[in-house]
Amino acid sequence: MKRNVDFLVIGSGLAGLSYALKVADHGKVLILTKANEDESNTKYAQGGIASVMYSPDSYEKHIEDTLVCGDGLCNKEVVRMVVSESSVRIKELIEWGVQFDKNQKGEFDLGKEGGHSENRVLHHKDNTGFEIERALLEKVHAHPNIEILHHYFAIELLTQHHLGRKVTSRTPDIECYGVYALNTKTNQIEQILSRITLMATGGAGQVYAATTNPFITTGDGVAMVYRAKGRVENMEFFQFHPTSLYNPNERPSFLISEAMRGFGGVLKTIDGKEFMHKYDKRGSLAPRDIVARAIDNEMKIRGDDFVFLDCRHLDKEGLIKHFPNIHKKCLSLGIDITKDYIPVVPASHYMCGGIKVDMNGRSSILNLYAAGECSCTGLHGANRLASNSLLEAVVYAHRSAKDSVERFKNVDHCDSIPEWNAERTASPEEMVLITQSLREAQGIMTNYVGIVRSNLRLKRAFDRLLILHNETENLYERTTVSPELCQLRNIIKVSYIIIKCAMMRKESVGLHYMADYPKKFSPAFS
Ligand code: FAD
Ligand code: SIN
Repeated sequence: MKRNVDFLVIGSGLAGLSYALKVADHGKVLILTKANEDESNTKYAQGGIASVMYSPDSYEKHIEDTLVCGDGLCNKEVVRMVVSESSVRIKELIEWGVQFDKNQKGEFDLGKEGGHSENRVLHHKDNTGFEIERALLEKVHAHPNIEILHHYFAIELLTQHHLGRKVTSRTPDIECYGVYALNTKTNQIEQILSRITLMATGGAGQVYAATTNPFITTGDGVAMVYRAKGRVENMEFFQFHPTSLYNPNERPSFLISEAMRGFGGVLKTIDGKEFMHKYDKRGSLAPRDIVARAIDNEMKIRGDDFVFLDCRHLDKEGLIKHFPNIHKKCLSLGIDITKDYIPVVPASHYMCGGIKVDMNGRSSILNLYAAGECSCTGLHGANRLASNSLLEAVVYAHRSAKDSVERFKNVDHCDSIPEWNAERTASPEEMVLITQSLREAQGIMTNYVGIVRSNLRLKRAFDRLLILHNETENLYERTTVSPELCQLRNIIKVSYIIIKCAMMRKESVGLHYMADYPKKFSPAFS
């Protein structure tokens, strides 16, 4: 089956939905999404979206906080642009129906998170992302030019490679013509041709064994672009959130928002001692890389499985009002956040690197844009400032949409792409091979490529992963294509890119901490 659209959007999180709403007045839009239409990282965002609203806050302060957090590797021009465009994008979200909490004075109730020098996080209680998905999906459903196909899995980008031309990473004019996508209800692979394609597939938290990210986060977009010989960068910078709820049998891990530390929560070891000031004068509200490393270190030297977040001294009513879902979730496990310590542990959370894009969201492949967590814009540098990712997604969706609308009429559909070659799909896949390889890959990444790395650990990870890579490619060549197999393949590809990037960076910077190259003037970790 073949479909033709003007704009193809892969992903239905904040980046994909907001882009779709912007291009839909100009042409036919198709959104593909591999699970239920609301399933995304966006849906689980808790803390909120960073934006300068009132003095004494200022763009300059937000820019400075972002740069400090990025540890010298942010693109300053991008940071300035994103921060200065924040107010207008927030206004637009509100016009689209997103409701952010206000205080008794009728002003927005701004939260604070690690690395922010001011309160500047707009939120909807502690489920901001859910509210954003709700409002945007409502708008998308109402637009006559937008169609959403859910449970459609994008497998492969269509380029000149599919016309029989040799494409390498040095080919200067690789073009994107759309994708092959698996309709998971019929098990048919369809050809979807587009003039412009937006990759908005989100992150890859599932590369690690413990993550705050839902199961959809398998780095598909990055893997697809990498295979199509597009540019991917900064993948060594994978952010671990310091405080996921310690509940060993739960996957994904439930997040305990950093906004709780912004509200006054304090990290303590299990004997009740505050420890963050040993590591950073900002204490529990230091940037995430520092807090996650400190917790990891305390757990290692003490032999503990978790640390505590202590909120018992905080205003009970305010705590429950601001964090009703966290309160409810903890209560369901017998933890009353107003009276009990909350056991927490770091978990993989955010992919700072990704598909390299310019300031208009253009990737290195013609007619392919990328926005949101799958992209690398230069905003985050070596470490993302909390609540800057929803902001980045909405700013880059806007800029990509504007640029796409200007270009799409000059792009023709490519009609000569062959049907998906189904010859190799004879034998059924063996599920046990997929599930075991997935566990192994996640184990390798967790044990050797986590919060603290070393040359030896990276080499070991690389060698182990190579075996899985070869086995999985072999399986892919000869068996039926399924989402599980594609996701395993993508997780292995993304893990490989993370390791390669990590091996190339011979220093400790931001989220990439190498025991062989300890940071100057800060504690050494192992
Ligand atoms: P997503 O929202 O993840 O959407 C990706 C979409 O792509 C999904 O619909 C998915 O199904 C689809 N997809 C993926 N692969 C394929 C494929 N092969 N074929 C078809 N469809 C595909 N950031 C903040 O700024 N503030 C916060 O408070 C915050 N809290 C967070 C809390 C949690 C628990 C988590 C997990 C993340 C949080 N983040 C937060 C990060 C933020 O939510 C994400 O970075 C952001 O929502 C990403 O949006 P996105 O549109 O790029 O991707
Ligand atoms: C949180 O609420 O702690 C998550 C915020 C973020 O990841 O930006």
